[in-house]
Amino acid sequence: MSEPARPRPADPTGPMLAALRAGTREHHRALERELDLPGRIRSRTELSTVLSAMLASWQPLEERLAAADWSGLSLDPRLGEAADLLRADLSALSTPAGAVTHAAVPDLGSLADAVGARYVLLGSALGGRVIAPVVERRLGLAEGAATRFFRRSGRSPGRDWRDFRLALAARDWSPADLARATTAARETFAFVGRAAAPILAVSSARAG
Ligand code: HEM
Repeated sequence: MSEPARPRPADPTGPMLAALRAGTREHHRALERELDLPGRIRSRTELSTVLSAMLASWQPLEERLAAADWSGLSLDPRLGEAADLLRADLSALSTPAGAVTHAAVPDLGSLADAVGARYVLLGSALGGRVIAPVVERRLGLAEGAATRFFRRSGRSPGRDWRDFRLALAARDWSPADLARATTAARETFAFVGRAAAPILAVSSARAG
């Protein structure tokens, strides 16, 4: 006899996640247009450039997030870290990982700031799983060869995303917290774009 169907756990969308989604929709679209992925990646060199451009923001953002004060939310301060996957992909492509940015890194002083920035970095894995197979097909790469970052290979991006949403939904947030987290998330999207722009511009100039 088959077991009775168990109710599926609720998909948690509390006020914080709702505020972050609604408040950054346009910023996500603007960054998507700017990065133009996977469209911009037609060769291994272009893949290296894109990964270097991502590392330029990921590395300083993850350092700030690891140092932020996460007490008040039961979450690993290093949840979903992925800069090491960018470095591994670059190494697989024989590109030295020397990305630095002169753009100002967002100040992530409060828990709400850190939540906003973590939302952006964790959420990017949702787009990465769409981008990875297209890049692999186009460049003739085996699954996960130089696409570990997009795939979050060896990690559990689905579980990280769910843990994050559950932790946000389990806490009370003031309207000021919601506003502050949303501002930090917007600044994080903008910072990713600002850090990537000069690296992508050099490569576009070479191709043109
Ligand atoms: C440029 C190429 C990109 C594409 C094509 C893309 C595509 C997507 C897609 C398809 C989703 C929704 C997935 C789903 O609901 O299952 C998504 C979600 C998301 N992406 Fe992107 N993305 C891109 C870049 C980025 C980058 C660079 C970041 C961050 C730096 C980012 C941050 C996010 C966030 C935070 C979400 C979660 C939205 C939510 O559900 O609240 N994306 N993306």
